Amino acid sequence: MERRLLVAANWKMHGQKLQNEMLLQALLAGLVKENAPEIVICPPSIYLAQLQAELKNTMLSLGGQNLFTEEKGAYTGEISAPMLVDFGCRYVIVGHSERRCLFGEDDELVGKKFVAAQKSGLIPILCVGESMEQRYKGLTDEAVSTQVERILKKVGVKAFGSAVVAYEPVWAIGTGITATPEEAQAVHKMIRVAISSHDAAVASKLRIIYGGSVNAFNAWDLIAKSDIDGALVGGASLVADQFISICRSMGGNKNA
Ligand code: 13P
Repeated sequence: MERRLLVAANWKMHGQKLQNEMLLQALLAGLVKENAPEIVICPPSIYLAQLQAELKNTMLSLGGQNLFTEEKGAYTGEISAPMLVDFGCRYVIVGHSERRCLFGEDDELVGKKFVAAQKSGLIPILCVGESMEQRYKGLTDEAVSTQVERILKKVGVKAFGSAVVAYEPVWAIGTGITATPEEAQAVHKMIRVAISSHDAAVASKLRIIYGGSVNAFNAWDLIAKSDIDGALVGGASLVADQFISICRSMGGNKNA
């Protein structure tokens, strides 16, 4: 069993047309197809059209950062799964901790978004992760497994056959503090075991990627761990050299 490694760039609310173009050109000039991971760029949704045009016939694919649960309707300001598909997205991030913490998304809503994404053929990248306080109190496993189990209960384990899980400890996001490879591996393994208790085949195929201050220096040590199948990269994905270097460290497949 092999898992194709995945590196996703979450640009968050960064970039403008000219900057995007320069960054993409630098990425396309520096990335090589051979032994590359699957690479997904998730720009702010208003730039999806720009990226769709610029990434045509390249090795980079596109993802959304968020979506709404409904396909269409009177939901001012929201974007649906079919709209993301219309602009060439293959993936969509759901349940990012910034959505959970700043915009009040709970597991119930995240589960609905997961379902909406798959209904339109998008691959959800489901983000889970504990807060600093939960980690200090020794509640990491409980917090993360509760998030995973709630989604599992809603969508069923088979749905994880076409999904990605991103473990992003909240305290490591944008802080420069990365979970050590050992800390990350322990949680990734716990997630895989939890899924495995429902369906071992789905668990062994599932890509579980790590996010939280991933950079050119720590990528290599993280990907060396048996249950880390790639990265969800924020800040470092905005710096071409950094992102290229992360992709180079995380190339190819992982034997499960
Ligand atoms: P940073 O890489 O900036 O810590 O962000 C991680 C993240 O939130 C990716 O979704």
